Amino acid sequence: MVILLCFTRVLDLGGELSWFGPPRACAFSHGERVELWTTDYVITHIKLCAAQNERYPYRVEGQGSSQIVASIEAGVRDGALRPGQALSPIRDLAAELGVSPSTVATAYRILRDRGLVTTRGRGGTSVSLGPPLPVRGPVQVPAGVRNLADGNPDPKLLPDLGSALARAGGRSRLYGGPPNLPALIDLARTQFEKDQVPAEAITIVGGAMEAFERVLGAHLLQGNRVAIEDPGHANLIDLARMLGLEIEPFTLDEQGPIVEDVERALRRGARAIAITPRAQNPTGVALSEERATEMARVVRRFPDVLVIEDDHATRVADAPARTLTGNQQLGQWAVVRSVSKTLGPDLRLAVVAGDQRTIDMIEGRRLLGTGWVSGVLQSVVADLWSDPHTDQLMATAESAYTERRHALIQALRNRGIAGQGASGLNVWVPVPEEHGPTRRLIDLGWAVSAGQRFRLNSPPALRITVTTLLPHEADSFADDLVLALRPDHRTRES
Ligand SMILES: Cc1ncc(COP(=O)(O)O)c(C=O)c1O
Repeated sequence: MVILLCFTRVLDLGGELSWFGPPRACAFSHGERVELWTTDYVITHIKLCAAQNERYPYRVEGQGSSQIVASIEAGVRDGALRPGQALSPIRDLAAELGVSPSTVATAYRILRDRGLVTTRGRGGTSVSLGPPLPVRGPVQVPAGVRNLADGNPDPKLLPDLGSALARAGGRSRLYGGPPNLPALIDLARTQFEKDQVPAEAITIVGGAMEAFERVLGAHLLQGNRVAIEDPGHANLIDLARMLGLEIEPFTLDEQGPIVEDVERALRRGARAIAITPRAQNPTGVALSEERATEMARVVRRFPDVLVIEDDHATRVADAPARTLTGNQQLGQWAVVRSVSKTLGPDLRLAVVAGDQRTIDMIEGRRLLGTGWVSGVLQSVVADLWSDPHTDQLMATAESAYTERRHALIQALRNRGIAGQGASGLNVWVPVPEEHGPTRRLIDLGWAVSAGQRFRLNSPPALRITVTTLLPHEADSFADDLVLALRPDHRTRES
């Protein structure tokens, strides 16, 4: 029970009185705990709560750390607390709830360990961008609005699955069979070797994200550092945070990672580095040959560092395959190739080449999880990879994406806007501020992704997925972007 009293009444009450600090006391009367607050304290508290409510509209509740955890978790699950949203500072929330700061700090630590919130030093604590709960996606696309935000391939440029599925049919497999389909491993090995990736050890997992989780989990512990591109793949950033890893960001220019930045990250103790050699998400940067050589020289100097290459767009990337693994003996490494962008996210699997120990650890861990990637799925991918029509379709998709990227970059350039996208599925457009233009574009009929999800320290930008933006539509999108970039532009809602 909480009773608000004038400070002077405290003296009248007598009985057992214990002090929390000058403005608050606690008395026990008839076996009940009575909390006594001075009027000054009450007024300050009310003002604080009012200010807090404005800044942090979600009301966190609870008197113990587990209740506070549950309350924040419920807010995230129900959408009242959005990914990226700031939480009250520890002391403020403690004062608001009438609990000690260490109770709130414990709650925040539990949430951080579970990946629900992230803490950025003086930046405070906020809901993770990808909390491990089913939340609504970061971009809500209203009906009738063109979706250039989702990073999807063009469905019209994905293979028809009918005949591959029919061919993959047949007997159901049982527990205990070989986890990897030999035909798929052979096809993957041929492709890796063609691209100078040593491919003695290869395995198959349920997509690039699963590969990253397994490989990072095999080599790194909570609190270890991982060097990640900035801007970089939003899901990888979230995954690293969820695994309790500290991120050492490194930046990129048009040739690839900036070598001095990478060196700094590795010297600061990063135990792993993840790079995207082509179709970098979100910038589209493709690693040049010269930069690949410099990068290889740097990673050679840190033989204990795990090197992960995310070659996610492979044959639709519009850039040659490059690897740091080719001409040198790296200690621990993995090259991950997902089929999501080439064959479609519903066929999501990834082939992974790596050193024998890393591949063994992935396979050992997989045995305790899903065991293997569905044999039906592996057969369909093997079938599609063996079919010359798929090669043709991927070549068509690659040139369509290239044409669409170029058309958009040119349309933007004609209007004085710089867009970046040397390869891949997206164009990255630096802007002074992301959220206003993103909102105004929605009102003009286009959904794009605010760059925040992809950025660590890098400046604001918009990510535009071009896979379905036809060249003749580029001008009309660019015109609308010009409008949306004007802070004074009034849309129907504003
Ligand atoms: C950089 C990057 N890597 C990998 C992937 C694909 O991951 P998955 O195989 O888990 O679908 C994506 C998909 O958006 C991506 O952008």
